[in-house]
Amino acid sequence: MKALDDLLAQTEFTDEEVARILRIRTPEEADLLQRRAYDLTTREMGPNVYLRGLIEISNVCTANCRYCGIRKANHNVERYTLPRETILECARLALENGYGSIAIQAGERRDPKWVTFIGELLRDIHEMSCTEALPQGLGITLSLGEQSLEVYEYWAEASGNPDGLRYLLRIESSNPELFHRLHCTPGKHEKVLEHRYEALVNLRKAGYQVGTGVMIGLPGQTIEDLVQDIRTFEKVGADMIGMGPYLTSLGADMVSLGQMPHDDLLQLSLNMIAATRLVLRNVNIAAATALETLEPRGRIMGILHGCNVVMPNITPQMTRASYQLYDNKAGTEVGAESNILVENDIVRIAHRTLGLNRLGSSLRWVERTGRPAN
Ligand code: 5AD
Repeated sequence: MKALDDLLAQTEFTDEEVARILRIRTPEEADLLQRRAYDLTTREMGPNVYLRGLIEISNVCTANCRYCGIRKANHNVERYTLPRETILECARLALENGYGSIAIQAGERRDPKWVTFIGELLRDIHEMSCTEALPQGLGITLSLGEQSLEVYEYWAEASGNPDGLRYLLRIESSNPELFHRLHCTPGKHEKVLEHRYEALVNLRKAGYQVGTGVMIGLPGQTIEDLVQDIRTFEKVGADMIGMGPYLTSLGADMVSLGQMPHDDLLQLSLNMIAATRLVLRNVNIAAATALETLEPRGRIMGILHGCNVVMPNITPQMTRASYQLYDNKAGTEVGAESNILVENDIVRIAHRTLGLNRLGSSLRWVERTGRPAN
């Protein structure tokens, strides 16, 4: 058998080799993997860790994803939608603190009122944020679920900053059977994996930097599934990856299926981040809040294993408790200014720098479009 050292230096990997990486358990091998993934990250992506100030603008949702705490059928959540002014205030705070980019996330809605609300909001954010520090305005990542090509195009146009335009749409799992189990509610199959893929194609057509990802450690998920997830990231041409451990949520519909034991789930999540970095090389990879929820030093560990993006929560305190996708969600108590200090600490510990006032686009996207790095 090939020594792990040699294997990790490869630029291409067979499925079995990726699986071997994902199965790493001993401290010696884990340490080697961490160092290799970290070195590759700084070599390919530079020393910067980029910020995306996350604003959870609404928890109103029309979907019933079984893992999710804000699924429509959970009647124990108080539903909210932040007013336009409040969102603009958050965006302004992000801008003033040097975030460079924000991420706008909400439950999934497709009604015309919502589509227009988002379009107008994007126009306002752009207008407000074109400043000396950021002549093109804030970078925007949207995370608003499956929409039509027309809606994606409308939002892209409204955002006014084609070089800082991104969309996150996780596939959750590339195993169609597992995807189906996660999204079927009795008598009604709302989500189809094929539609997710179509949406990803449409996002590219509409000019977005396209992000996708999966949950790690899902009940019934195998190592082979995760290997295929990474292959799928490549196939759909992902520029960015966001993934994190699956955590149970009392408001969801999967509590009885349990959760992987903490240490196993943590190692698997870090292995998955590192493996994704080794295979995809120059994509942006975000350290998920779920990783921080699983483990207090989760974000640092994520950065040490290949992440180069963090998404500090800058949603106003009042509504944070209502955006619980899973239980005990981390970072519900820190504000935008102190977040910067926290992030500064994190990158210092990880021997990195914060990409302040930078859009921090995916270099994979730079490569495929010929646009300048920003
Ligand atoms: N555990 C971990 N991640 C979750 N998400 C939703 N519910 C959970 C959960 N219980 C993730 C999904 C979704 C993203 C917004 O949050 O992957 O795409």
